[in-house]
Amino acid sequence: MGGLDGRTALVTGAGRGIGRAEALLLAAEGAHVTVNDVDLGEARAVVDEITAAGGSGRADDHDISTWDGAGAAIAGVVDDGGNLDVLVNNAGILRDAMSFSMTEDQWTDVIRVHLAGHAACAHFAGAHWRERAKAGEEVTGRIVNTASESGLYGLVGQVNYAAAKAGIASMTVVLARELAKYGVTVNAIAPRARTRMTETVLGALLPEEGAFDEWDPANIAPVVAWLASDAAADVTGQVFVVNGDKVHRMSGWHRTGRIDNGGRAFTPDELAARADELFGDESRGLPPMGFGE
Ligand SMILES: NC(=O)c1ccc[n+]([C@@H]2O[C@H](COP(=O)([O-])OP(=O)(O)OC[C@H]3O[C@@H](n4cnc5c(N)ncnc54)[C@H](O)[C@@H]3O)[C@@H](O)[C@H]2O)c1
Repeated sequence: MGGLDGRTALVTGAGRGIGRAEALLLAAEGAHVTVNDVDLGEARAVVDEITAAGGSGRADDHDISTWDGAGAAIAGVVDDGGNLDVLVNNAGILRDAMSFSMTEDQWTDVIRVHLAGHAACAHFAGAHWRERAKAGEEVTGRIVNTASESGLYGLVGQVNYAAAKAGIASMTVVLARELAKYGVTVNAIAPRARTRMTETVLGALLPEEGAFDEWDPANIAPVVAWLASDAAADVTGQVFVVNGDKVHRMSGWHRTGRIDNGGRAFTPDELAARADELFGDESRGLPPMGFGE
């Protein structure tokens, strides 16, 4: 018996990397998992691993970055299993470049796959759950989105990716508010793991012999399995950074300074005169990077 027995899950971009590990664990926890990836060969190989381990899965190769592709992927899950319970939005690509060198394709491709891909899958999954809830069914829907620390802190060379991932963190809160009344929770993770995506930027990231492998993508999957389960029914609208043996609960924009002009708009000169009050002892320059253990 697993925590996800009887549930049906869709993991996008699950042919390799973090999504693959998530699909394997969700299946091990008892879910029937659709392994989506534009690379059908990789998706099928993951389904073979699931089946060999005694689990249940199917492969799907729709491109989730369009409304058509996302709609077809989710319709396929529903046709196959009757319902969708868990959507893990994970599929992604990198097209890094400095903003002043970035091409329109580099910008558009990343925004399309990450931002539009998340929105499109959430659109069709949300419509499915709303329809079931309106028909009187008790729904326990789950969306787990994939943000990135790049989007939270603003990594140089990733203006496309960081904008998409910050949008995904923000979208998570909107979706959580919109879908709460239909029995759906929506959360996001910002993972760190050794995958094809990071190998190009960070190198091999292999552990010392015998040491805990903090970059193993399998470290990320338990957080997703927990968020997908009944045990996390009251967790929604949250963003978690997940690295190795650590999970960090993040919180978003908040006021760090305030000035009030008593019923009259500020003039530029008044703002300049009161900037000390607005910033206090805090830096007026680049915000700090939040990476760390
Ligand atoms: N690896 C990290 O440290 C890290 C850090 C922060 C965020 N992330 C995020 O985690 C997610 C997974 O990344 P990964 O590191 O496992 O990368 P990966 O390249 O190993 O896997 C991504 C998978 O998504 C698939 N894919 C790409 N576009 C698709 C589309 N349109 N439709 C369906 N499938 C598509 C690819 O074929 C690939 O198999 C991404 O959203 C990524 O941005 C990863």
